[in-house]
Amino acid sequence: MANAYALGEAASRTTTQVDSLFLFITVVSLFFFLLVEGLLIYFAIKYRRKKGAEPSATPDIRGNLLLEGIWIVIPTLVVAVFFYYGYRVFRDIRTPSPGAADIHAVGRQWLFEFRYPDGRSSINELRVPAGRPVKLILSSDDVIHSFYIPAYRLKQDMVPGQYTTLYLHPDKAGTYDILCAEYCGVGHSTMRAELIVMEPGAYAAWQEKKEAPAGLSLAERGKALVGKSGCPACHALEGKEKIGPNFGQQFGRKVLLADGTSVTADEEYLRESIYDPKAKVVKGYPVVMPTFKESLSPDDVGAIIAYLKSLSGEKEQEKGEREEKKEDAAAQKGKKLTETLGCLGCHSVDGSVRVGPSFQGLFGRQVDLEGGGKATADEAYLRESINQPKAKVVKGFPNVMPEFKGKISEEDLSAIIAYLKTLKR
Ligand code: CUA
Repeated sequence: MANAYALGEAASRTTTQVDSLFLFITVVSLFFFLLVEGLLIYFAIKYRRKKGAEPSATPDIRGNLLLEGIWIVIPTLVVAVFFYYGYRVFRDIRTPSPGAADIHAVGRQWLFEFRYPDGRSSINELRVPAGRPVKLILSSDDVIHSFYIPAYRLKQDMVPGQYTTLYLHPDKAGTYDILCAEYCGVGHSTMRAELIVMEPGAYAAWQEKKEAPAGLSLAERGKALVGKSGCPACHALEGKEKIGPNFGQQFGRKVLLADGTSVTADEEYLRESIYDPKAKVVKGYPVVMPTFKESLSPDDVGAIIAYLKSLSGEKEQEKGEREEKKEDAAAQKGKKLTETLGCLGCHSVDGSVRVGPSFQGLFGRQVDLEGGGKATADEAYLRESINQPKAKVVKGFPNVMPEFKGKISEEDLSAIIAYLKTLKR
């Protein structure tokens, strides 16, 4: 265990602070323990009943104000010092550190997700540069978890519906365990992550680097994503099943669902199950899988599906693959268009409401229209709404969107709709 009293540098200043406090309390307590127990043993021997001695009456002592005063005042002072020292360390740990980088950490059954200021996110891996304080904003998507970094001596609950904060002072580069320290269900013991503290130069280089390493095949990328996303905590490849179905023989099989119907475990089913795991639950398994909508892009999901297919040894149907690629390419293009055309200024892709309705989950949804009536946000509706936004305005939103009719090609229009489809819930 690396602590302030072992040789070498402590992992964080909080390590030193907490260890010093702990050592202080231990030494003082040990001193009084030895004093009291020592005197007890000494008196027990000194004043024992000796062999052959005449029995004598025990002296009748009714109290000693001075002695009683001393054993009240001294322990009170001792615990007051404990309190003051402990409070100072606590206050220091809780005080906001100037210049700290905000990182959101979300606990979910049974993984940790980290979201960085620049929009990146990672699962079960928190990377920070050494020497710069970090403000962790903790929350939970389901039950109470506890974010625990033993090497830093820090622990903080992650509470659903509430933010808690924790300041890290990563002083020394290295890899440290992050554990969940609150029993949160059957996967609790597998809920662990790594804190990777990098030298500032290496961190900057890592930040520059693209997420997907070049030269990897789609399936290899999918495999890396599966590991990174914490899937193996619940899904084994083969052999004994963990919490969810094994990945090994998954693809193309007919699976029986909890509601009695059955479905083919094809691409669409897997995609849906990654984004909306509760939609079609395989019979006999608990409904516990979190959605990966926020953390895995449609691209990532494609890679994961490719990996799952490679596991089952089944060759991909060429035609289906080609079609999927075409769809993918269109969606990619559509995504870029929504940026260059400025759509994202008014429409979010994360469900939050800006000037107009969010793109997330828009496709296929029933919307109430201004002036009564309803419409389904299908291809035709989206096409019309991009071309002539004033035709059918969604209730509650201002009638401010410009017409794109004649400004974008038919191909671009289809690409945008293909992209919106990928944002379907
Ligand atoms: Cu999360 Cu235990």
